[in-house]
Amino acid sequence: MTIIENQFDPARYAGVRKPLLEAETLPPDCYTSESFYRREVETIFLKVWNFMGRADRVPNPGDYAAFEFVGVPVVIVRGRDGKVRAFANSCRHRGAKVMEGDGNCTVFSCPYHAWTYAIDDGRLIGAMEMDETEGFEKKNFGLIELRLETWGGFLFLNFDKDAAPLSDWLGDLPEVLASYDLDSMVTTQRVEYDLDCNWKIYVENAMESYHVPTVHQHTLQKQKRDHNPPIPTGGEYCGLFTRHTGSRALLPNAKGFPYIEGLEGLANEGTYYVLINPSTMFGLTYDCMWWLELHPVSASKTKLIVGSCFPEKTTQRGDFDELVQNYYERWRISIVEDNVVSDLQQTGIASPFVQPGRFSYMEPLVHTIDNWVLDRVLGA
Ligand code: FES
Ligand SMILES: [Fe+2]
Repeated sequence: MTIIENQFDPARYAGVRKPLLEAETLPPDCYTSESFYRREVETIFLKVWNFMGRADRVPNPGDYAAFEFVGVPVVIVRGRDGKVRAFANSCRHRGAKVMEGDGNCTVFSCPYHAWTYAIDDGRLIGAMEMDETEGFEKKNFGLIELRLETWGGFLFLNFDKDAAPLSDWLGDLPEVLASYDLDSMVTTQRVEYDLDCNWKIYVENAMESYHVPTVHQHTLQKQKRDHNPPIPTGGEYCGLFTRHTGSRALLPNAKGFPYIEGLEGLANEGTYYVLINPSTMFGLTYDCMWWLELHPVSASKTKLIVGSCFPEKTTQRGDFDELVQNYYERWRISIVEDNVVSDLQQTGIASPFVQPGRFSYMEPLVHTIDNWVLDRVLGA
């Protein structure tokens, strides 16, 4: 591994700190070096509210989903009381990962020496052959509960016990998006992709429309080269609003569903593309919403999860299963187009010949996001 001298010296990033049209892009090693990635994990992902998908992933009491986020094993579970909780998925005996995959359970049981834990509060309820262990008290060895909060039916996880509540993080976003009535939506599809790129490459791609006429020339090109100034933000998010007619979740001329009832203000005039910091994109259009959730794995690997939500009333239509395929096709094609170009960018940016580039006026949020990352990684 190459050691980069002064990698965290603010002077190294002076070019990125300039206003958009004078600024340079981030130095290439910000996308390739494990030391920069580790610093992002410590200063961003272990500190902030991380989007963890939708609560309807675990609809029934006992339903659980175990996964790793930035290398930390986590299990989310719906308790018998109906509440969704998150626990550090590491056994309190000798640290083994307790739960694997998805499923339904009545207790958490460690596959190593069978310590068992309650799903409602993580307390240790069974530990064989521990009677002779001096001073051992089960009450001190429960699974560690992590902070999990919800908004609009979505889950957010925070590893930092001292972090301010989720409502502070989101700011006015719930108000801005209120008329979509996200709470009453239903997840109808959830697809995972493994990307060979840094998480920022994907976020930057999602938040600029400069690439649409080339990357999506055969699919979304009808959207033209939209340029819209960023929407005002009163929280840890940024976004673009595009004024247009017709759903943005369909390919040109595809048949879709009626619009969401009760949309108000701008929601009635086009589509929002929102980035909830640091790494979750929401698309909200006339008839549905979709999210792109990123789980960074290493400097050059990222898991992408794409979720699709429709109003419950839409999902109850007799033609839902048939027509929803038009939406799934749009996402499948356009998302793979973005995945391919993101992997290409990662391959190119790893070259020793790459140097910082410059921004178009159409990439204001790429500049915003890069500076947001620097604020965290370097200290504001
Ligand atoms: S590590 Fe889990 S029971 Fe031993
Ligand atoms: Fe794209």
